[in-house]
Parts: sequence; structure tokens; C-alpha cells
Amino acid sequence: MSQSSSNQIDQKVLVLDFGAQYGQLIARRVRDLHVYSELVPCDITAEELREKSPSALILSGGPASVYAEDAPSIDPAIFELGLPVLGLCYGHQIMTVTLGGEVAHSEVGEYGAAALERDRESALLNATPLEQTVWMSHRDAVSRAPEGFTVTAKTSVCPVAAMEDASRKFYSTQFHPEVQHTEHGQQILSNFLFDICGLEPNWTMENIVEEKVAEIRKTVGEDRVILALSGGVDSSVVAALGARAIGRQMTCVFINHGLLRKGEPEQVESVFTQQFDVDFIHVHAEDRYAALLDGVTDPEEKRRIIGTQFWNEFFAVATELEQDGRPVKYLAQGTIYPDIIESGARKTGGKASTIKSHHNLIPFPEGVHFDLIEPLDHFFKDEVRALGLALGLPEHIVHRQPFPGPGLAIRIIGAVSPEKLEILKEADAIVREELDAYNQRLFEQTGERNSEHAVWQYFAVLPDIKSVGVMGDERTYARPIILRAVESTDAMTADWAKLPYDVLARVSSRIVAEVPGVNRVAYDITSKPPATIEWE
Ligand code: XMP
Repeated sequence: MSQSSSNQIDQKVLVLDFGAQYGQLIARRVRDLHVYSELVPCDITAEELREKSPSALILSGGPASVYAEDAPSIDPAIFELGLPVLGLCYGHQIMTVTLGGEVAHSEVGEYGAAALERDRESALLNATPLEQTVWMSHRDAVSRAPEGFTVTAKTSVCPVAAMEDASRKFYSTQFHPEVQHTEHGQQILSNFLFDICGLEPNWTMENIVEEKVAEIRKTVGEDRVILALSGGVDSSVVAALGARAIGRQMTCVFINHGLLRKGEPEQVESVFTQQFDVDFIHVHAEDRYAALLDGVTDPEEKRRIIGTQFWNEFFAVATELEQDGRPVKYLAQGTIYPDIIESGARKTGGKASTIKSHHNLIPFPEGVHFDLIEPLDHFFKDEVRALGLALGLPEHIVHRQPFPGPGLAIRIIGAVSPEKLEILKEADAIVREELDAYNQRLFEQTGERNSEHAVWQYFAVLPDIKSVGVMGDERTYARPIILRAVESTDAMTADWAKLPYDVLARVSSRIVAEVPGVNRVAYDITSKPPATIEWE
């Protein structure tokens, strides 16, 4: 398992998570300022915190009222640890009641933009205007600051919008400096981290790479590591890191199920044989998958077959490798921070047992055992991308869009066949070429890779029907292609992309002209929900 024992991680800010909508965002913003930060559950004790030796604490917001029956509280001894503390929203209120101040129910809540007024010096609000726009989301409000605190700012409905006890380095705000709508939020966080806590901005990609490389070397020693490399962002970044750290002690197993997009297997092979020095095994399992999937129409059954066969193939390679008498001790995985959070670790207080159950989803066969190395388990997706770029991975891997494990099999409705796969690969390649170009134009215009209108995921779907058309003087009876293109941030919800007509027209005319067997293109204009992004 990865360990957090290095210099950069020694300087860290822990965010006590009171169930905030913005909890992860706080850690994100701190990291944007090049200081390592992660969430811990709000019921952590002072003793547990001391063991983690943080440099500072941030108390997040949360949906509860401090007076609600099941409202989360905080171990009061945490305020005796001698650490700087920044309380935000609920964190501001819990700090108030724990340290002897008062929070009152108020008739009018405050939601959205608010005008903050400050009439005195404050280390926290330093270098921000006396009047500024901040983002609020609360009903209760602090009515009396605890002893030792000075009130530094207010709004028209919130008498204690910011307060501080500079001698103990306790600061808090009712508003959310972490959200973008708070005009000077980053300045405020930066004041806290650098001026108040005296931290150094040394959580940079160069340091992270160095640190991760050292960590992997230390964990692995002389042992052997295996990685299931899919060609996706996360496993590719692990492969690149592993290459730098332990070179050919690591074997990357790329299982080609024949369901990847056009050109992808060749790209993965070329990057990991020519650019990185790892032991790369390309398993050609296309025929075995084709035989297993022959005639299978049920989407869940397809998924099950593909997933099970994947591990069969993988463990067969692992067993084969060990024939030389050198056991494979570690399995490297591209688990990232949101995977751990989403697996429910937070709900049970971040205990290791739940984190493990996430990994145990892998059906290890009887008698097989690997220790896990997960060098990305502290990173958000865009940090993983930045790490990939710092390691020299090509853009087409680092900015690859999400692609389902079962691949094109779940974009062919009904049974998969070589003929249908060929049609879908060709059509999909055109969709990607045209929409990559469209995104690139937007990127050049706005300078932002994820600008408002950028398309997040786009692909072709092949339904199990034929329709009549006319090409030249000939009647055709051929397949349609469905274009799916969505805007999203996390795939939980999505909207269909409002693509310009000329882009749609080009995609359509190119597919019909260039892909034999297709005579029609339709555009899926359904959001998620009620539809899903994929068709199966
Ligand atoms: P849906 O179709 O559920 O997809 O709206 C949400 C996101 O997840 C991807 N997806 C998958 N990824 N294995 C994966 O690794 C799968 O079985 C799978 N199904 C959907 C999908 O591409 C989208 O980004």
C-alpha cells in the first residue's frame, strides 16, 4: 500500500469533513496553492489527528444546524493541539459553540452572493478589499463570538461573518472562500496557508513525481510488480511512474479484448514499448472474447463475460510470469482519490476496512495473493493528468475521455460480431476526429480545456436495426449510426451537447460517405437522467 511518509506530505492541511457539499473542493483549492491537503472524517479525535501530524486544520461546512439532534460535533481537545484552525460555514459555527460563543437561529437565511464589509485589519482578509462579494449558504448565524475572538467582518444579515483569535491562530468565516463566487477566496486561503501557518508552496508536480518514485522504490524493494494496463489515464500514469521508479521490475499487462477503439491498441503498445522502459506484454485475446460474446445480447451478460475473462487472462499471465521462479509480490492499481471516497470510506469514518472492500471487488482466484500499490490514491483526476504530463505521457493518453471497461461491446446493441465492430470502429473514429477538432478550436478560443461548451464524452453507437436509404440511384438497406455527445463534469448527470449544425453535418456526411454499411446518422438528444450516457 502507498505510504504518506515523505517530506512534502509531512506538510499537510487536513480538512475535517462535516458533510459539506464543498469538502473535496476545499482540499482541491489548498492543493491548487501547492500545499498537500486531504479530507478526514469530522469525528476524528484529537489523538488520531496528532498521529497524522498535520500542519493546520480546516473545518468544512456541512448541511446541519449545530443545534440539530444529530448534528456532528468536534472533539474539543482538537483546539488544544496548538494547530492553526480555519473554520468555514458550519466549521465557523461549530468552532463558535465549542469555544463558548453562541449561534442563533435566524429568520432569514443567506444564500448566494453577499456583500461582505470589513472595518479593521485582519491577517486572514489581508490584501482583499474592505467591501467584497462572498458566497454564503446558511440559515443559523453566529450571534456572539467566543472569548478571545475579534469580529473582523459582517454582512447585512450576518453580524459575525468573519472572526479571529490571532494569538491562538484560530480563524473562521461564515462564507465559503473555496467557491469561485467568493471573489477573493484564493487570496484568503493563501493568507491562511502562507502568512498565518507559515507553510511553503512545495506540493508541485516535480516534487510529487520525485516523492512518488522514492515511495514506490522503498515499498517494492527488489520485488516484482504487475499492472493491468488498460491504456486509460489512471493505469497509464501508474505505468509511467512505475517505469521511472522500478523499470523492468514491473510488468504491464495489456489485455486486448478487441473491443477498443480504432488505433488504440497500437498507440498503447507504442507508448509503453518505445517511450517507457517497462516489461510490456500485449495479450491478444480478441478471438477468445469474440467466441465468448458470440450471440450474447443481454448487456449485463456482456459485461459479466468481459469482466470475468479479463481477470482470467490477467491471472494466466501472472502465473506464466512466475514460472521463472520469481514471484510477483505486488499488484499496482490506478485507484484515485475519488474512487476511495465514492466507495463509501467516508460514511464509515474513513476506516481502512471499507477502503479495502473497494479493492476486493477484484475476484482474486483461490490461492492468488498480491499486495496492492496504489500510488494515485491521494490524487484528483486533474492532478493525475498533470502528473501524467510531468512524466512525459502524450496528450492523447493524458486527456483521453472516459471509456467503459467493456469497450465497444456495450455500444453495439444486441450481439457483437466482427462486421459490426468494424463498422462501429470506423464511425467512432470519424466522430472522435471531428469532435476532437471542435474541442481543440474551443480550447484555442478560450484557453480552457474544459470550457463551457467543450464536449466531455463523444462516441458512436450501433443499434440493432436497418433502415432504407438511397445512394446514387440505388436503394440501400443498411445500418444507422447514433451519435452520442454529452457535456458533463462527473458522469453522474449529463446534458446532450448543443453542437453547431455544421459540426453535426460534417459528422453525418462523413460517416455515411466513408463507412460502408451505414446509410443514416441520428443524434441522441437525451440528457442523463432520464437516459444514461452509454446505451447499454
Ligand atoms: P452511464 O452510461 O452509466 O455512464 O451514464 C457513466 C460513465 O461511466 C462510463 N461507463 C463505464 N465505465 N465500465 C466502465 O469502466 C462500465 O461498465 C461502464 N459503463 C459506463 C461511461 O462511459 C460514462 O463515462
